[in-house]
Amino acid sequence: MKSRKAYSLQDNNSFFIDTVCSEIYFPASLDDLSALPDLSTRPFYILGDGSNTLFIDEQAPIIIKPNFTGITVTENDSAFILEVGASENWHDLVTYCVDQGMPGLENLVLIPGSVGAAPVQNIGAYGVELADYCQSVTWYDFNTQRLVVLDKQACQFSYRDSAFKQALYNKGLIISIKLYLPKYWQATLNYQGLDTLPENVTSKQVMDTVIAMRQAKLPEPKVLPNAGSFFKNPLVSPSVLQQLQGQYNNVPYYQQSSAQVKLAAAWLIEQAGLKGYRQSGVGVHDNQALVLINYQQATGRQVLALAKHVQACVKEKFNTLLQPEVKMVTVQGEKIFDDLDDLCLKQ
Ligand code: EPU
Repeated sequence: MKSRKAYSLQDNNSFFIDTVCSEIYFPASLDDLSALPDLSTRPFYILGDGSNTLFIDEQAPIIIKPNFTGITVTENDSAFILEVGASENWHDLVTYCVDQGMPGLENLVLIPGSVGAAPVQNIGAYGVELADYCQSVTWYDFNTQRLVVLDKQACQFSYRDSAFKQALYNKGLIISIKLYLPKYWQATLNYQGLDTLPENVTSKQVMDTVIAMRQAKLPEPKVLPNAGSFFKNPLVSPSVLQQLQGQYNNVPYYQQSSAQVKLAAAWLIEQAGLKGYRQSGVGVHDNQALVLINYQQATGRQVLALAKHVQACVKEKFNTLLQPEVKMVTVQGEKIFDDLDDLCLKQ
């Protein structure tokens, strides 16, 4: 198996953080997977395209960077069924499907990252999420050293969450995903910006509209290093929404169930006066307040300091804790804390 020592990850994370791992492994086959070192006692991190990861320290843990490629397409009377290797690029997959006349994923175009990362956080945009089309995930179990096919139910998808972040966390590796794209297709146009498209719109037109909307708001990581939305949109009770509506006109929200509404984190950050705010080479994006940008080759700690500031200001103003969506990785591995102040770092 291909592996390297003392490997710089600067070109492997979209914040462009300069960090070095002691070892990196690039498994590309089942044999490679069984040849991985025993990681049960050493911190490690599974890295896809690095577009949703913030490396905090100058050193990174051991990295596993899977290299499973390939797309196979089969079809039956009602659907196209695709088996896609985890290391394929998500955006390229979407454009391939639309160009080949297999609609469904068009609202998810331009989401950065690898196919294998898509189920982990159940990627979503413009009213569609991966769970709508993912039939199963093939996963390598570190413990048994076997492949397991997890059906949709076993994946436990919810908003930016799945079993891969919960019970299966760090217990194995996603190898491929199976997508089920029904031939009877109807565009999903309920999101603002798509709702004015005509009913007979094609999937290519939807895709082009989403591309234009994303490009207008979301910065290109190669130009302005970032990891997309830094925080999740918070789920709150209807009474919290009502309070806000008493103070502000046009509070954006998405009804989830009678018990919960989703607020727009970007709106909360903007109302807290932080849109365009900058400190120590990092800042809140001028066009989308949910995106943090590494403007001047700042360190991971400087990005984290800004994220803590944003979280604290929103908490103070709205009594709502924004939970990070980006994965935060120290030399000791990924650190999962909702309140960033609890993310104690060794000096
Ligand atoms: N808004 C503001 N200020 C801003 C930006 C937005 O007030 O600076 C308001 C908008 O007016 C709108 C609302 O916030 O009413 C929602 O904004 P937007 O449509 O841009 O979507 P979002 O909720 O901020 C989510 C996803 C994005 C995805 C978009 C489009 C999360 C955490 N983020 O953002 O996903 O592209 O919807 O569907 O759910 C990502 O995960 O990295 C990502 C970019």
